Amino acid sequence: MSSNSTERTLLAGCCALVTGGAGFIGSHLVDRLLREGAREVVVVDNLFLGNLENLTQALAAGAVLYREDAEFMPSLEYIFAAHKVDVVFNCATKALNYSFLNPMNAFDTNTRVALNLLELQRKGAFKALCHFSTSEVYGTALYEPMDEAHPKNPTTAYAAGKAAADLAVESYVRMFGLDAYIVRPFNNYGPRQNHSGPLAGVIPVTARRILQGQAPEIHGSGAQSRDFIYVLDTVDAVIKCHAALPAGECVNISAENCLRIDALIRTIAKELGYTGEIASKPERGSDVACHNATSAKLRALADIRLTPFDHGLRETLTWYAAQHAAGRLN
Ligand SMILES: NC(=O)c1ccc[n+]([C@@H]2O[C@H](COP(=O)([O-])OP(=O)(O)OC[C@H]3O[C@@H](n4cnc5c(N)ncnc54)[C@H](O)[C@@H]3O)[C@@H](O)[C@H]2O)c1
Repeated sequence: MSSNSTERTLLAGCCALVTGGAGFIGSHLVDRLLREGAREVVVVDNLFLGNLENLTQALAAGAVLYREDAEFMPSLEYIFAAHKVDVVFNCATKALNYSFLNPMNAFDTNTRVALNLLELQRKGAFKALCHFSTSEVYGTALYEPMDEAHPKNPTTAYAAGKAAADLAVESYVRMFGLDAYIVRPFNNYGPRQNHSGPLAGVIPVTARRILQGQAPEIHGSGAQSRDFIYVLDTVDAVIKCHAALPAGECVNISAENCLRIDALIRTIAKELGYTGEIASKPERGSDVACHNATSAKLRALADIRLTPFDHGLRETLTWYAAQHAAGRLN
């Protein structure tokens, strides 16, 4: 028998554990959980891509960080033994681009962390699991807008690992009645998103290149689209889903803001006052062609907040400009 969402422990006063909590979305979630009045917020992050600076406020406010690998069960076991955890938010992952470099480990991380948590939950280590899926599990849209019933056609090992983890969550709910649910964000943007190296996403890379005096790049035709949502809106939706989404269910988290990549890059260039050339690069293999979501289910569950894209993008670019001015953009 599945637990009902209405029986979940309130976030105020609870102990929440966030895997991947030093990363982009996870660190904003940690801040929000502290603001919600969580009694204790525990972060487990191996700092593969996460950044201690993302947790500056949270650590000052009392969050506890374990610099540990959530793929390694003995590490998780001793952390759960040390804290009476109520709810786990599973944000740990290795960025999509990493799966082109090391597909097996990208797949393993996405499945192993989820399985470790499901096993711990099955043995009673905590009550509720919010598992982070991704729009990448759908592959290119077979119909638009894409709802939660859209077939899963992962085009990368990253997405395949995420899809497998989703199935694991659903099966553990059916088999053992666990209180676990799946949130499925589309493309997030905002402050703290990784901007360095080959694992960075399109908005951080474009901002970094322009701020460093390099031409921004469009891969392929630029007609490929993604559905962009501001990170604080995703976090807000996740918090509201915790109170509303039944066990075993998943929900798209999207702002219904489908943008072509060429248009997005031109908008960033304009915002940053860049008037130079935009370089054309070859299409990336396995690139999803179209993501265009419906958030009808989410909107029926909760009163969600949506930041206008121009406002969110400006906040984001201001943050990257400040990082650049501080010599932290590399
Ligand atoms: N950013 C997006 O646009 C987006 C879109 C859809 C879904 N998601 C999902 O949201 C979640 C968070 O994504 P994000 O953008 O914040 O990613 P991120 O890379 O910024 O954060 C992931 C964190 O996981 C940590 N990590 C990796 N392997 C680990 C391990 N074995 N043990 C412990 N920590 C580990 C990393 O160090 C990093 O801090 C992920 O599950 C991701 O799939 C993100």
